[in-house]
Amino acid sequence: MEAATTPALDVRADFPIFTREFDGRPLVYLDSAATSQKPAAVIEAMDDYYRRHNANVHRGVYALAQEATDLFEGARERIAAFAGGETATTIFTRNATEAINLVAYAWGREHVGPGDVVLITEMEHHSNIVPWQLLCQETGAELRYLGVSDDGRLSLDELDAELASGRVKLAAFAHISNVLGTINPVADMVARVRAAGALSLIDGSQGVPQLPVDVGALDADFYAWTGHKAVGPTGIGVLHGRREILEAMRPFLGGGDMIRTVGFQESTWNDLPWKFEAGTSMIAEGVGLGAAVDYLSGLGMERVRAHERELTRHALERLAGVEGLRVIGPAGAGDRGGVISFELAGIHPHDVAELLNRDGVCVRAGHHCAMPLMRRLGVPATARASFGPYNSREDADALVAALQHAREVFQI
Ligand SMILES: Cc1ncc(COP(=O)(O)O)c(C=O)c1O
Repeated sequence: MEAATTPALDVRADFPIFTREFDGRPLVYLDSAATSQKPAAVIEAMDDYYRRHNANVHRGVYALAQEATDLFEGARERIAAFAGGETATTIFTRNATEAINLVAYAWGREHVGPGDVVLITEMEHHSNIVPWQLLCQETGAELRYLGVSDDGRLSLDELDAELASGRVKLAAFAHISNVLGTINPVADMVARVRAAGALSLIDGSQGVPQLPVDVGALDADFYAWTGHKAVGPTGIGVLHGRREILEAMRPFLGGGDMIRTVGFQESTWNDLPWKFEAGTSMIAEGVGLGAAVDYLSGLGMERVRAHERELTRHALERLAGVEGLRVIGPAGAGDRGGVISFELAGIHPHDVAELLNRDGVCVRAGHHCAMPLMRRLGVPATARASFGPYNSREDADALVAALQHAREVFQI
């Protein structure tokens, strides 16, 4: 349940980047769906790690190496707890993309074959499309898509119909669409997929930064997310997996740290989660992501969600007053995360983004790594504004003012 009345967050001062100005104007950053800004707490945790605690993890017996290991593994424990996962089944990857590829390679190559179906949706990010295309091309399986309605939603009836074929081996879908903002009914979807005897993977790249997420309660077989969108550093992502599936899986990458013993011809594998973490880990990034989840826990994810929902509601209301502007995706702020894609009649989205930039407003324009969705929507590209906990109503108002200005420049 989402809180009905929650005080707005006022945390801009926690994020050093907002001391910057562009042509004398404050930074209006509306591109958090691409990557979030970082609070000082994250930057300082990584700085402190390198200044005071740097050593390689897991292998050293000396005190400094033990400190580094404790910081890194301690971060894993807090990251797992933040997302409702178990520590041993919380695997660090480079990003969400690598987490999904891990499943496609290490699970998919063994369990998916000719005649099987991998089911995804038309609203997926390329990270949750291309690994499945590669898998299906290699194995002779079929890649099928759940459709997206004109108002940007999936249909549970269509999911049931696909599952009824009995051929679906794995269904993979976004928690929140990075283009439409749609919050998908993932708990319902996972339950249906499980009942049909298939595995589920949720791409939580936009979910974890915006919603309270409890992967234990969701009970998907895999849940992938990426640190840099959740006020953490780049270079670290997370895969939560079901223990018995991870234990039965072959490793993804081979090398140091992921083994127990190595002989001349064969090897045995380390325990979870390290079996899936070959080579030296992203130690500072792990420490940074630990600080990021501490920061978000301190704010409270219920409050983050309430803040962004209110901001989205305000922005949708104000955008409705911009002539020629069409918002894509669900109409109400209750059904969507803090992501608003739109078209402005008569101006190409890239020109919109460029004109907004002149007013100090950062939005993204393009296909947002979702080319099949663009094709489904019949648009070449959209402009997209997206919010983080540091945004305010003033930022949404600055977006609207800059859009009005863009219309004046184009004399439309
Ligand atoms: C829904 C979704 N999935 C996956 C990704 C990929 O994230 P990363 O590039 O960090 O792996 C993104 C990033 O834009 C995203 O929005």
